[in-house]
Amino acid sequence: MGATIIIGAQWGDEGKGKVIDYLSKKASIVIRFHGGNNAGHTIVNLHGKFAMHLIPSGIFNENSIAVIGNGVVLDLEVLVSEIEMIEKTGLKFSKRLYISPRCNIIFPYHKILEKIYEEAKGKNKTWTTGRGISPAYADKVSYNGIRLFDLLNKKVFKEKLETQLNIKNKIIKTFGEKPLEIKDIYTKQLKLLEKIKPYIKEPFEILNIDLMSNKEILLEGAHGVFLDNDWGTYPFVTASGVLSGNATIGAGIAPKYIKKIVGISKAYTTRVGHGPFPSELFEKEAERLRQLGNEFGSTTGRPRRCGWFDAELIRFAAKINGFSDLAITKMDILDSFDKIKICTHYLLDGSKVKYEDISTEMLFKVKPIYKTLTGWKSKTNGIRRYDDLPKEAKNYLKEIEKLIGVKISYISTGPETENIIEI
Ligand code: GDP
Ligand code: IMO
Ligand code: MG
Repeated sequence: MGATIIIGAQWGDEGKGKVIDYLSKKASIVIRFHGGNNAGHTIVNLHGKFAMHLIPSGIFNENSIAVIGNGVVLDLEVLVSEIEMIEKTGLKFSKRLYISPRCNIIFPYHKILEKIYEEAKGKNKTWTTGRGISPAYADKVSYNGIRLFDLLNKKVFKEKLETQLNIKNKIIKTFGEKPLEIKDIYTKQLKLLEKIKPYIKEPFEILNIDLMSNKEILLEGAHGVFLDNDWGTYPFVTASGVLSGNATIGAGIAPKYIKKIVGISKAYTTRVGHGPFPSELFEKEAERLRQLGNEFGSTTGRPRRCGWFDAELIRFAAKINGFSDLAITKMDILDSFDKIKICTHYLLDGSKVKYEDISTEMLFKVKPIYKTLTGWKSKTNGIRRYDDLPKEAKNYLKEIEKLIGVKISYISTGPETENIIEI
């Protein structure tokens, strides 16, 4: 027992929501520790199909507490609609949802600023989700953020909002956008606050009590390693720290409690937005994976770029996070392929290069070197026992284990929570 961190090992959308929902059955607390509603975690369980943007999947388990940790940035409008969505399922959660009062808030001006920055960068833009994430984190680290704690005190909130609008409206006007009225934002945010007020409770104590009594705690990562603000393919990244090293800070627990770090990877690779993607496929080959895997964003609906499994990336991800286990998802999507490729390493100007040694500009130029394996050409969808997997599928998984040096403990064979093999 202790804490398990779940980390997306690629560029997001690895199937974290599905695996976390499976693991949360045994957890007393599930906590999101970073990011915001740029995340979209799909869960298909007894209650239906849900794309969760903020509330961790523990909400579906009547024995778990779901926590939105201090590292998360909150769009209150999205949070309220997510709460309403869960209410409609009939689940009771009044005592099972905690929102840290330290969470910073995303305001309408953050979304306008993001649009201004993206447009100003032209063809070099990041293709962000447009949810105001990076301007909200920029305000947080430059001491311009407004937290839930501030909203709970009307006078403090008004004063801080006035100061921020004074700064932000000057920029907004310079770029030809319409300035924002304090009255509109102030009134709307306070109305939204009323709905979430019962859940704003510091989770520090319940987390520490459960950790000390050896209960199972799950830390739900969002996005993916290569979107990490420090170690990802900067500037084509997200604004938060994605790695296991960030998890304890955004959740408010001590690192000594971490006993397991699970890296989640698809059996192939996808990416949304701009940036290097060495094992990317194009045209018909990419379209085949996109259609089979239904690779369209859960948050924005954008088509995801698709490519082969990239062992160079996951090897790095395993080292920087200290993965103890790997979960491989969407095995079933490869069921119809005659041949399946794995990128084993990169060459740059004829020499082998490692991810950590090269810049993003260099990563755009590397040549992926592939190993080709024979496909299994049979249905793995819904298989729940390792022994029932076809020989070629086992070979594929063994090859991944060999290249990464981390054991595969979970294999996902369908979107539904129960379609998983635990080894
Ligand atoms: P997340 O952001 O990492 O939680 O992943 P997303 O939910 O954005 O995207 C993963 C998509 O793949 C969702 O539509 C899931 O329902 C689906 N999915 C997850 N695991 C599997 C699997 O093993 N097989 C299939 N066919 N779909 C899966
Ligand atoms: P989950 O948790 C896939 C990508 C965006 C964009 C870049 C920056 O569902 O795996 P941002 O809005 O964060 O400033 O955008 O990061 N991105 C994701 N891609 N899945 C995600 O989350 C993502 N979160 C951010 O597409 O390229
Ligand atoms: Mg997603």
